[in-house]
Amino acid sequence: MPLSFSIDEQQVRQLANEIDTNGFAKLSGVVGEADLAQLRAYTDLQAARHPGEYFAYHGERALAGSLLAGIWADPTFKALLSRLYQRAAGETADSDRIFPVLRCVQGNQGRRESNSFHFDASLVTVLIPIFIPEHGEERGDLVLFPNLRTVRSFVLFNVIEKALLQNRFSRKLISVALDWGWFKAKTVQLEPGNVYFFWGYRTLHANRPVSPNLTRATALFHFGDPHTGSVATQLILKFNQRRARLASQKTGSPPTESMPG
Ligand SMILES: [Fe+2]
Repeated sequence: MPLSFSIDEQQVRQLANEIDTNGFAKLSGVVGEADLAQLRAYTDLQAARHPGEYFAYHGERALAGSLLAGIWADPTFKALLSRLYQRAAGETADSDRIFPVLRCVQGNQGRRESNSFHFDASLVTVLIPIFIPEHGEERGDLVLFPNLRTVRSFVLFNVIEKALLQNRFSRKLISVALDWGWFKAKTVQLEPGNVYFFWGYRTLHANRPVSPNLTRATALFHFGDPHTGSVATQLILKFNQRRARLASQKTGSPPTESMPG
């Protein structure tokens, strides 16, 4: 895939500074028409297996053979993510593995998957829009509460924070507060062709609802878990793997690996 992520050190610094100050950064016009057409064709093919319903594919195995493989295997992309991680964490990542996800929000189940505010397990999150509704009231905009927290020194704090915020009650509360304008969040209207970056571990985020008759598809790439190897991380991964296995049995999705949450 001829996407180019080879940018120099100064541009990496600019990108990281922009994420720090603005909550996210974007590289404009990186995904050309032909690449986008191929990503859309692949997504359409998968969507045909889940007509009108939400689906998500997690991990290299599930997405092998897609054009996304050309992105996560690209050494310039890997180098960019690893340099961004280093800037944000002040140290190199334990692993240079990129975790890919294809997420397609549509139908009634898609509404339930919206407003699922969460922190990612990994520090650097990259989002590539594939299908973004242009019209309608509910277009599934990306909503960010940027950089709410730093990388926790103690993994237990991380787990407690996630438990407090990532449950049905807190998510409902946040979405009602957003509707009523009580919280100020950053709303990003995604544009296909651009590539978006944010600190997923530090930023509470979700997509806003999508009208059931519209489709919103995105590719996500996760990089750098600040708590790799900790007992708590292993337990979360085991729990997520079990949840993903059950979901894939229910929806007929391909088997998944772990799910950064
Ligand atoms: Fe996320």
